[in-house]
Amino acid sequence: MGIFDSSTTNDTTMKRIFLILSSFFFLALSGLSAQEQHTMQCEQVYPGIWRYRIGTPDAVTPTTVRYKEPAAAAIGKLGGPSTSPVEPQAQVTDRGVLISVPLQPDEAIYGLGLQFYSFEQRGKKKVVRVNADPGADLGDSHAPAPFYVTTGGYGVFIDNARYMTVYFGGKVRRPASPSDVKGKEDKEFLTPFNGAYDNAGEGNEVFIEVPRSEGVDVYVFAGPTMKDAVARYNLFSGGGALPPRWGLGFWYRVRNIFHQDKVESFADEMRKDNIPCDVFGLEPGWQEHSYSSTYTWRDTLYPNPVKLIDKLKGMGIKVNLWTQGYVHPDCPIFNDLLPYSGDYMVWDGIVPNFFLPEAKRLFADHHLKETIGIGAMGFKADECDNSDYTGNWSFPEISRFPGGLDGEQMHNLFGLGLQEAMLDALDATGKRTYNLVRSSGALAAPMPFALYSDMYDHQRFINAVAQEGFSGLLWCPEVRAAGGGEEDLVRRMQSVVCSPVAMINAWNMAMPPWKQMNHDLNNKEVVDPNCQHLMEQCKRWIEFRMQLIPYLHAAFVKYYRDGIPPFRALIMDYPDEKEALKDIAGQYMMGDDIMVAPVVASGNGVTTKRVYFPSGVWYDFFTGERIEGGRSYDLAFPMDRMPFYVKEGTILPLAKITLTTEDPGSRVIEPKAFGTDLRPFVLYEDDGSTNPTLKENTLRWDARKKKFILDSSFYILTK
Ligand code: GAL
Repeated sequence: MGIFDSSTTNDTTMKRIFLILSSFFFLALSGLSAQEQHTMQCEQVYPGIWRYRIGTPDAVTPTTVRYKEPAAAAIGKLGGPSTSPVEPQAQVTDRGVLISVPLQPDEAIYGLGLQFYSFEQRGKKKVVRVNADPGADLGDSHAPAPFYVTTGGYGVFIDNARYMTVYFGGKVRRPASPSDVKGKEDKEFLTPFNGAYDNAGEGNEVFIEVPRSEGVDVYVFAGPTMKDAVARYNLFSGGGALPPRWGLGFWYRVRNIFHQDKVESFADEMRKDNIPCDVFGLEPGWQEHSYSSTYTWRDTLYPNPVKLIDKLKGMGIKVNLWTQGYVHPDCPIFNDLLPYSGDYMVWDGIVPNFFLPEAKRLFADHHLKETIGIGAMGFKADECDNSDYTGNWSFPEISRFPGGLDGEQMHNLFGLGLQEAMLDALDATGKRTYNLVRSSGALAAPMPFALYSDMYDHQRFINAVAQEGFSGLLWCPEVRAAGGGEEDLVRRMQSVVCSPVAMINAWNMAMPPWKQMNHDLNNKEVVDPNCQHLMEQCKRWIEFRMQLIPYLHAAFVKYYRDGIPPFRALIMDYPDEKEALKDIAGQYMMGDDIMVAPVVASGNGVTTKRVYFPSGVWYDFFTGERIEGGRSYDLAFPMDRMPFYVKEGTILPLAKITLTTEDPGSRVIEPKAFGTDLRPFVLYEDDGSTNPTLKENTLRWDARKKKFILDSSFYILTK
């Protein structure tokens, strides 16, 4: 029977057709098709780690170019729940891939790599885009990473290199039908401007839009706490970086235009003044051509680099070399690298795709001859962070690279590629290293590089130490000049010695900042009459750093083995104090037993600061004062003290102060106890090799004999 054979059938059929057509029409009009998310294909890839897939992921993503494989054994040891803590959903749209992850109304969100402008992310819209000149809280950064964690106790990683947009709960879906409309009864006159109406963070979903891709993998990392989720992510990245002991010493970067004789006399002067120093950094001037780079020595300034490096080596000082990833036509490997490079130039140099094995090998072989081969121990990988507001300082997004990436993807990966290329060469020595880089991102935890920036905002620099711990990154709040005078210099020194890299970056200063804090006067070599006093103050904090090295080393071993960040926001360690700690950005845990809250100069010499103490008992390291935690206090800090607190029951394994970590004296331990009921402290023997055995040495208090016991031939207990 045909459909028009009976009027009844005809009616029903017409109704059906109408209903089908009208629902298509409704869906098309409402745009719901773009919001209807679909279940992703889920697979548990490791205990406590799930991979959710939609469509066909890009050929090049952070996991396909990763430096290290996941630390499977360590992840296995953590165990984990049998079901994923959240279920992402996704849809491939005409704009790319749209992912949504549910949120609870009270969840606070952290991470997304280095975010200078904000700490907690709920309600924010962020774009994951590498950019050296972040001007606002939009996500642009030296090191954005598509990974976030929430106080719900899980982490989410989007394995993609594009400029994805993340809406952290700020967006609310339209109701599907009139009966679902809420808030109709609210008749008051409300505007967002009189503060009566604030819907930031109201939406209970994270939306992530990945442009241009046809599929994406999303990884979920179980907790139960944020600290556990971050640890799992770091282990999935391959485990945290473990700097050699010298990397934890004091670093000084000398002026760009120094002649090597000047560098040598500078080192002599530091020794004469008894200032500890483990690393000297040479800035662009060492290269024949630096912007772009030849990776060869400039004869006029460095006629005999072997002599310089040997001399510094004899003093226990390692050499770190400034470099970048754009290769100058005079570089001996330029021609060979050409076929592996993108189709745009930067500063007359080519831009290799360092993920291609051949490009990496050429780069590594060259460095093994020219720099590492003569004793350089590490690099500062500069300018890899898309300085795209500044003329031709980087390659454009329209670039194409052999290996199938475009300029957008390469920007989010370039810093990682440069780190990998350098490590290929450095790892070949069999010795561990520690370096600097100005751009990083996803799965970076195992790479021994710390980030830095030209932005010289002290408070933001402090916050970044805490913030980086959410995303498997390390950060150096470097010290340069001190426009704010003596207190500014001293406070900046206090912050930097409580960070992953204790460094003065005097790349453009003729003298150390303690000789003249004002940048311009410094370069005119006008010595401050107060310089002896300033030097003594800086030296004191550098010496403090030297004392902390065994403790810091143990904290980094936990990063390496267990994925626990050595520097981390308080909320990671005290999830139950969420309300108090949610927005505390400028305080952090340094290892398991120390809380630091660096002070920014007020200009008065004595600065008052409100410090929150998590529950438990704390001791002021400097005064010994006992402080009951679980609340905040307004405290005054004269310049010779900083907020540095030790947990009740801690034995701090302070080292004897030496000029370098090469001095065996740096392994002499002078324990300092805080409170009673002392917990043993585990130290680790380290030969600095790429595959260290890390034998455990336990430092403990023998209550009966009333003395400390340390069974080790590597560390020695002070007499
Ligand atoms: C900047 C870098 C500085 C310094 C300088 C040398 O890009 O951030 O630390 O190395 O280059 O030209």
